[in-house]
Amino acid sequence: MNPDAMRSARVVQIILFLTLCLGLQAKVYKRCELTRELLKNNFSRTFLSNWVCLIEQESERNTSAIVVKSSRRKYYGLFQIGSEWCKEGKKGGKCDITCEALLDEDIKDDGVCAVKVFEQEGFKYWAKWEARCKGQLLPDIEKCPDWVHPPSMVSPPRDKRTARGKRSIRRFSRRSIFLSQPY
Ligand SMILES: *[C@@H]1O[C@H](CO)[C@@H](O)[C@H](O)[C@H]1NC(C)=O
Ligand SMILES: *[C@@H]1O[C@H](CO)[C@@H](O)[C@H](O)[C@H]1NC(C)=O
Repeated sequence: MNPDAMRSARVVQIILFLTLCLGLQAKVYKRCELTRELLKNNFSRTFLSNWVCLIEQESERNTSAIVVKSSRRKYYGLFQIGSEWCKEGKKGGKCDITCEALLDEDIKDDGVCAVKVFEQEGFKYWAKWEARCKGQLLPDIEKCPDWVHPPSMVSPPRDKRTARGKRSIRRFSRRSIFLSQPY
């Protein structure tokens, strides 16, 4: 390749990368999509409707939701995790994570941190769970396709499988991240 071609290939690469970053910035899930993502991230089925309720109340399923109470108290992302659990700009806090990582579309790290919060504080950590979910009618997620047919942990989304693609739906592992009581 000549230098010019290499340079333009590089520019294309950078543009693709930036597009990807922007694409990863915010996502507002639909209820069943969220259910799918939580199942994929090994959330316990037992409390799944509690988690969905909590997320709907806290962030309206918006991965980039941020609430600033004061300069020292901020709440980040889908689960509205407080600033003591993360650190802005570099890894830190009780989840050893950057706060920015709680705002992107990748919710795997958010889920791990939320479960940690739950294990230490219970659902009562989340005021809106306490006010609007506890003991109340929870979101009906049992109609979601992924509740009925749990997603495989590694394969692409159901609708992206090709017709002649392997039909090997890997067996869903019932192992959950946690088994403790909700509150
Ligand atoms: C969920 O659990 C399965 C089986 O234990 C494991 O292979 C997978 O990596 C876990 N996924 C996440 C996102 O933690
Ligand atoms: C999601 O939250 C971000 C940050 O608060 C906000 O800018 C964006 O408009 C929200 N998206 C929706 C669809 O509510």
